[in-house]
Amino acid sequence: MHTIFILNGPNLNLLGTREPHIYGTMTLKDIQELCEKKATALNLQIDFRQTNHEGVLVDWIQEAKGAAKGLILNPAAYTHTSVALHDALKAVDLPAIEVHLSQPAAREAFRAHSYVASAVNGTISGFGAEGYVLGLDAITTLIAARP
Ligand code: DQA
Repeated sequence: MHTIFILNGPNLNLLGTREPHIYGTMTLKDIQELCEKKATALNLQIDFRQTNHEGVLVDWIQEAKGAAKGLILNPAAYTHTSVALHDALKAVDLPAIEVHLSQPAAREAFRAHSYVASAVNGTISGFGAEGYVLGLDAITTLIAARP
């Protein structure tokens, strides 16, 4: 059974109460449960984590090499600032999907650019928590396509 790391960045621990008009009312725990259900259906094992710290995300991406077959990452605000996350994703060269609950391109101008997008296979944004479920389908397709 393949293991997939699902990594979540800063302030996502506050989902449920954080700007619910943008991010919805599901908590991160709810999203984790949704992912676990989907993973069972896809015969995948998930390792679902959240941190508010950029370096911890870098450590976890590095850890994924060897421990996981693929990565789903919501880098939250670090999407728009982090060369370190870009470099870590490039370094591990694993199938990787960037997920956002909201549609950053339709929001403030500073959210228009993602440093992560050019280091992942694809981006899913604007579908709320469902984006994580779509991400699991996408990562399954990517893993199957790898020689
Ligand atoms: C987010 C979008 C980011 O712009 C923002 O900083 C977040 C959450 C999303 O899931 O929509 O914290 O990644």
